[in-house]
Amino acid sequence: MITLGCSVIAWYSYGQSKITVNTDKPIAEIQPTMWGIFFEDINLGADGGLYAELIKNRSFEFYSPMMGWKEIKKDGATGSVLIENRTTTNKNNPRYARFTFDASKGSYGISNEGFRGMGIKKDLQYHFSLWARAVEGNGKMRVELVNSEDESIGSATLTVGKDWTKQKVSFTATSTDLKASFKIWFEGKGIVEADMISLFPNDTWKGRPEGLRQDLVQLLADMKPGFLRFPGGCIVEGRELVTRYQWKKTVGKIEDRELIVNRWNSEFKHRSTPDYYQTFGLGFFEYFQLSEDIGASPLPILNCGMACQFNTGEVVPLEELDPYLQDALDLIEFANGDVNTTWGKLRSDLGHPAPFNLKFLGIGNEQWGPQYIERYKVFAKAIKAKYPEIKLVTSVGPSPDGELFDYLNPTLRELKADILDEHYYKNPEWFQQNASRYDNYDRKGPKIFAGEYAAQSAGIASPENKNSWKCALSEAAFMTGLERNADVVYMASYAPLFAHAEGWQWTPDLIWFNNLEAYGTANYYVQKLFASNKGTNVLSILEDKEKLTGQKGIYATAAWDNATKEIIVKLVNVTDKEARHNVELAGGKKINSTGTLTILKSQDLDAVNSFGSLNIKPTEEKVSVKGKTVAIALAPYSMTVLKVKTK
Ligand code: AHR
Repeated sequence: MITLGCSVIAWYSYGQSKITVNTDKPIAEIQPTMWGIFFEDINLGADGGLYAELIKNRSFEFYSPMMGWKEIKKDGATGSVLIENRTTTNKNNPRYARFTFDASKGSYGISNEGFRGMGIKKDLQYHFSLWARAVEGNGKMRVELVNSEDESIGSATLTVGKDWTKQKVSFTATSTDLKASFKIWFEGKGIVEADMISLFPNDTWKGRPEGLRQDLVQLLADMKPGFLRFPGGCIVEGRELVTRYQWKKTVGKIEDRELIVNRWNSEFKHRSTPDYYQTFGLGFFEYFQLSEDIGASPLPILNCGMACQFNTGEVVPLEELDPYLQDALDLIEFANGDVNTTWGKLRSDLGHPAPFNLKFLGIGNEQWGPQYIERYKVFAKAIKAKYPEIKLVTSVGPSPDGELFDYLNPTLRELKADILDEHYYKNPEWFQQNASRYDNYDRKGPKIFAGEYAAQSAGIASPENKNSWKCALSEAAFMTGLERNADVVYMASYAPLFAHAEGWQWTPDLIWFNNLEAYGTANYYVQKLFASNKGTNVLSILEDKEKLTGQKGIYATAAWDNATKEIIVKLVNVTDKEARHNVELAGGKKINSTGTLTILKSQDLDAVNSFGSLNIKPTEEKVSVKGKTVAIALAPYSMTVLKVKTK
């Protein structure tokens, strides 16, 4: 709601300094892709997060096949479980469980703990399914959700037949619980074999069966992102080549998607997550669909024959690079190809005959060294020959400076790369000091993708890092510099995107969630304000006739929005003082007499958001425009978006 704040009354001139926006002369286009999001399955981002499956280890393929599962026996029932492996007939999903039981007296079954429990909502319907057959006995079973007190909060019965089939049953939960679990009770005496044991809530994003968590996607959609980069990050590379991300293994029937260990399972000893695997229920078709749903241009990143150089650093020999390259060519066909092509047909068969309009493709994640250049050249040559319209995103290493960067940056410029993917995990001061980084970048060279950035309050990847207001504010200062240089910077995204409050490996993160709720951090609101107030063209902005680049603690960028005919000025005050300015919207445009201010602020640089407590979130005020001037008081430690319509 818009409140009438002091800025309305104080329309009179402030004397501190004059900020001038030239509204007549746009100086650069802002790409529709300017502000986007970067998704990686880290911190239980996909399994246990965005992918709404509630059962952990549903097909017994984890290294310990019963991880997440427990046998349960009551009142004299007996039973045992045997894990069988049919690699020769089902290579992608070899294991299943064989239960032999006598529950003529008492009860025998198994329970699943979910991902740090299961978040269950009262009155919501849940859909259970499994692949199973009754080898002996009546094949009857009862499935049940229980709350953290072990009380039943919803159940149903079903019967499986003599042949392997997928069985389904739905039921409604009778109460809400953050830490529920799930049980299957077998009836009578018999043998049942089961696989792909699954439970999904009904309230998935767009109501898609076995789909994504609605609240998490909504937070993404609310940002109005210009692109979605997926599926990583280091996850693309794998610790070793065998666990790299292979998109072809993530599309098609869910039971045929081969599970692999998640590289974040063991990456950090201090945040070890032995139960972290990738089921690929959220696979490449779903990523493209998600991009389309939220109006974001898809930006897949593919492995280029190199495993993570922080880990094994394995590379595939150049003469064996073909399958990797073919994956890239086939992905373009999958996304954009006619329905009569092999991969375009698959897209169509999966329910999307229309192309996904892929324009960008990332070649490797944080690769470095001559071994990257050698492999990039092979990809670039073949892709450009077949699909010259596709813009390639290339790695300049894990850092925006230093030896690795200093080799790759000029080398890729020489090779006329399209877009360089720079990553910045630095302290908050670095972000403020580097707001001018692109002011002097080569205007004729490759464009920049600020592919991963996040201010680190304690140290890179330190578990002590916080999503503090100081970090978010510093990122906002830096982002003004990205937007001012939109002729060079074509895309930018914060990283990482999601973190489960009980299952994270890396902090800070943009959105935190548990099994029932989610919240946007201060950093999220900064991203959202930039992305949803983007504009179409950069306008020049001067402070007392000089370029405004934070020299007095104020960072700013101005834009024109061709669609809404609005002038948008983003101002960031990193000082502890209120900063009073007259903002002159100079030029021939007829300006409305009122505008809006959207403000993010906190006096406390250590302030953070948390579940149920959004300390830092935008508020809106009206502001008067006298003639062409807006007298504005920027609160200490604040980000303000001024929007004024023209007539
Ligand atoms: O965002 C977390 C990790 O940081 C990404 O996977 C990687 O690209 C970077 O090193």
